[in-house]
Amino acid sequence: MSNKLAILGGSAVRTKPFCGWPVFGEAEERRLMGALRSGKWGKLDGDEVAEFERRFAAMHGCKHAIGVVNGTVSLRIALMAAGIPAGSEVIVPPYTFLATATAVVEANAVPVFADIDLETFNLSPAAVEAAITPKTRAIMPVHMGGQPAEMDALMVIARQHNLVIIEDAAHAHAALYRQRPAGSIGQLGSFSFQSSKNLTCGEGGIVTTNDDRLAEACRSIHNCGRITGGLWYEHHVMSANYRLGEFQGAVLNAQLDRLEEQTNTRDRNGQHLAARLSKIPGLHPQRRTAETTRHSYHLFLLRIDAQVFGTPRTAVLRALQAEGIPICGGYAVPLYRQPLFRNKAFGPYLSNTGPALDYTAVRCPNCETICAEQGAWLEQSLFLGTSADMDDIAQAFEKVYEHRNALGKVQL
Ligand SMILES: Cc1ncc(COP(=O)(O)O)c(C=O)c1O
Repeated sequence: MSNKLAILGGSAVRTKPFCGWPVFGEAEERRLMGALRSGKWGKLDGDEVAEFERRFAAMHGCKHAIGVVNGTVSLRIALMAAGIPAGSEVIVPPYTFLATATAVVEANAVPVFADIDLETFNLSPAAVEAAITPKTRAIMPVHMGGQPAEMDALMVIARQHNLVIIEDAAHAHAALYRQRPAGSIGQLGSFSFQSSKNLTCGEGGIVTTNDDRLAEACRSIHNCGRITGGLWYEHHVMSANYRLGEFQGAVLNAQLDRLEEQTNTRDRNGQHLAARLSKIPGLHPQRRTAETTRHSYHLFLLRIDAQVFGTPRTAVLRALQAEGIPICGGYAVPLYRQPLFRNKAFGPYLSNTGPALDYTAVRCPNCETICAEQGAWLEQSLFLGTSADMDDIAQAFEKVYEHRNALGKVQL
């Protein structure tokens, strides 16, 4: 094998494809055909979503799980069920998918960004504390990449200030925090089953809770404001049809049977890769907290410190891609830098909050460093393979590091 960098004409470290996604087989086909042939395609008619909700709730040690159309709606329903008043503040990280913050806007509340920790990529409890005002009503930690946020510290802060915690567990299916499933620790949890997620049916989401009253509110909001025992055309709260369909339920039931084993594989491989990459100067895989019993590795997160590694992130990523490693830089800007927030292009929402809301003044330095200079992501399906796959990734990094001086010749 040529030792020259592939980006400079050498041969690539990795030429075989990595594990693809989604993974499916006869079980999905059987369930889907069963749902199709039953003629019961809606959640209120069939058994698949109901079965999935029961199983998902049980797996989280939660009394309730409410299947909905996606993981954005699930966040909004959780906020609405929690009774977050219009114009009040909800603390969110800026290093997350858009939905974490826009769900807050769609609930007519104000997203307030608190910085993340540079090493864990998760919401910093100290930054959360500093962001609390008399208007704060909730905190929405994201379990970024699948590593649970610092829930103990956040729960203490929430108790002290009487705040609701809604966990955005869109990345964290089957992740464990001190043996407790992510999404079961705050008052409400929210998951996404969109195509890229570790548990998927194409599009879908779910809300989890142990609180009977919150569950009842979620069920009503996702079902046109209906209530148990009420009439079909009796609508009690602002709501819509957000119900998950039976075909999605069928796929999820089959996918759920695979999740435990897949999660253990991802966690084992993720730890193996992190151990190898940590030995390379300037590379910092997401620091695993002592409380993380199991990481779901929806994303393998990494920082590349260009000063120490010896070459800028963009060049490293390009070189790795040429070596056959599908790596990317992740979120390019903190959410508050998105035009949507800078311009407060909120449509009909938050129309009364006025000039107090100025996202151009927000600064979250750790998030900015990660977005602009250091962040790198590898996706979950790579971690369903073998330890030899991890060794190939590590070897590509080692090769790029070894030849870092040659990277100056690469046109970016
Ligand atoms: C952290 C996070 N929250 C929420 C969502 C929203 O989920 P969905 O795409 O199912 O609406 C996503 C999806 O990518 C996400 O990554």
